[in-house]
Amino acid sequence: MKKELIAGNWKMNGSLAGNEALVKALLAGLPAQPCEVAVCVPALYLAQLQALVAGSPIELGAQDVSMHESGAYTGELSAAMLREFGVRYAIVGHSERRQYHGETDQLVAAKAKTALASGVTPIVCVGETLAQREAGKTEEVVKRQLAAVIHTNGHCISEIVVAYEPVWAIGTGKTASPEQAQQVHAVLRAQLKAASAQAERIRILYGGSMNAANAAQLLSQPDIDGGLIGGASLKAQDFLSIIAAAL
Ligand code: PGA
Repeated sequence: MKKELIAGNWKMNGSLAGNEALVKALLAGLPAQPCEVAVCVPALYLAQLQALVAGSPIELGAQDVSMHESGAYTGELSAAMLREFGVRYAIVGHSERRQYHGETDQLVAAKAKTALASGVTPIVCVGETLAQREAGKTEEVVKRQLAAVIHTNGHCISEIVVAYEPVWAIGTGKTASPEQAQQVHAVLRAQLKAASAQAERIRILYGGSMNAANAAQLLSQPDIDGGLIGGASLKAQDFLSIIAAAL
């Protein structure tokens, strides 16, 4: 059985003092045999976090990665650099990056490929906007987003993590119902199965206002293998409750 993955996406939040307090509270409250746990932190804090989580079950993630390996790309961070700071996961194609930084399906696919080549597991985000859902386009949108990644990554696809994050549920307090989420997860699973004999081992996370109150029901769905948690990952007790729900 694959282990569920609960990954926190801190987005552009944190401070040296705040990070230390949060991680210490998490470490103090983690169960003895937790599910897999990761925190995706602002890149500037990776060195601090690497020291804070050393020897613990908490793994480190970044929130983005360059599609290039090295060179004249001002402001970019390579997967190899992230590896040097103990990074295991990198979120790619988060809807905030697609929306505010113009990231295309092709760019997201290229980022996933470069990350994999350097030993960083991409957490590939897909999800529809409210307008797309209301127009009945949810399946079409998420399948198109995932298809680009499958096409570019070929047989390596079984190494990725997918996160279904309906854009209308992110940071809004509106969660997809467990049935709505499962329906999309099943579509994504079928698409992965058509591309890889190992699709059952690919974890498909749900993200979008997951919290202590709704996590257990979402995580009990057959194709929901964990969560990508924004707001609730910034509060130790809330994040720990979600981790407990995933056990
Ligand atoms: P949220 O964010 O949990 O605050 O809705 C999730 C995400 O954007 O990954």
